[in-house]
Amino acid sequence: MLALSLLSADFLHLSKDLEMFNNSEADWVHLDIMDGVFVPNITYGMPIVAQIKAATPKPLDVHLMLVQPERYIDEFHKLGADILTVHSEACTHLHRTIQHIKSLGIKAGVALNPHTAIQSLEEIINEVDVVLIMSVNPGFGGQSFIKNSIEKVKKLKALIQKSNSGALIEVDGGINPATGKLLVDAGADVLVVGSFVFRSPSPAAAIKEFRVLQNKGKNQ
Ligand code: DX5
Ligand code: ZN
Repeated sequence: MLALSLLSADFLHLSKDLEMFNNSEADWVHLDIMDGVFVPNITYGMPIVAQIKAATPKPLDVHLMLVQPERYIDEFHKLGADILTVHSEACTHLHRTIQHIKSLGIKAGVALNPHTAIQSLEEIINEVDVVLIMSVNPGFGGQSFIKNSIEKVKKLKALIQKSNSGALIEVDGGINPATGKLLVDAGADVLVVGSFVFRSPSPAAAIKEFRVLQNKGKNQ
């Protein structure tokens, strides 16, 4: 699957970019919520999320880059998040926060920064619906892909198989068709893509480049 990150979209013409997304083959819209504390950047908040929800029938994949994200779980659920992901590094009681998200009837995700080991998920892997591997340090779009992420995806795939977990592997940051292929081959299920699509003269065609790759992955 492909999750389109709106971080690099044109916020003065968001309806145009959402229309492109709605008509595209992308599966989820990925919303990066940053607080300027957990990450060195601040993005958009609740009013924008509400407007995006009203403008698309596709699932909202909300990536919370906040300290104490448990404070905002109910609010983002009410705003229409379909997948709600918190950072493992930001949660003192990750198990409780994951249960809270799942009790709302939506998918619960845990995100790992580049330095956080896959082994740290051993005791939670059967509770989560999605693991989001950060393949850049979170905070900004348009950064270079960290190559070690491929190995992390392989390790995560092995952990998921060993544990009989149903978790999806999502990868976020610096993804283009070349890095995307390596990730799909390593076991990734969902690719988050931002600047590669929005910097392209034809965003819809850029999304299609990944669909070809995904179809190849399915045939393997
Ligand atoms: C980075 C964000 C990403 C970002 C990806 O902190 O979590 O979702 O938008 O953008 P690109 O594809 O430009 O790396
Ligand atoms: Zn993200």
